Amino acid sequence: MAETNGADGGSDRGNVARIPPGGPICLTGRIVVEVGGRGIAETDDVALCRCGQSANKPFCDGSHRGADFADPGVIQGGRLVPGQGESASDEAVTIICKTDGPLLVRGPLTVVAADGGTSRGIKGALCRCGESAIKPFCDGSHRAAGFAAE
Ligand code: FES
Repeated sequence: MAETNGADGGSDRGNVARIPPGGPICLTGRIVVEVGGRGIAETDDVALCRCGQSANKPFCDGSHRGADFADPGVIQGGRLVPGQGESASDEAVTIICKTDGPLLVRGPLTVVAADGGTSRGIKGALCRCGESAIKPFCDGSHRAAGFAAE
């Protein structure tokens, strides 16, 4: 079931993570990507792997097509944690790539699902192993799946 946290049903202002069916996490806004405590990208538009198959993690390399990643792109559970500043349109969101784990969200972000469902907040964990039962959020399945990534 789609979740809507935003008062306006999900706007395009600020930092947005779109979740296309069977595709990556498409981020726009002010995005910082961190790996191992180091910023590796500062961008306004980036696609991060969420099928777990990219050879260029955390970035999408198109492997989801060959992997038959069939996720519908809807919010199946979980949410971002609301907080102050979540509606600020000029504040960056940092995506921390946790070793062998999810993409940690730190900063204002609105997740917009393929069916229009939204979740807005300042903190959370997005699945990047492809195995979560509550995509696009992490449910800890990466551990049992033996997901490995920097
Ligand atoms: S990264 Fe996929 S369940 Fe945690």
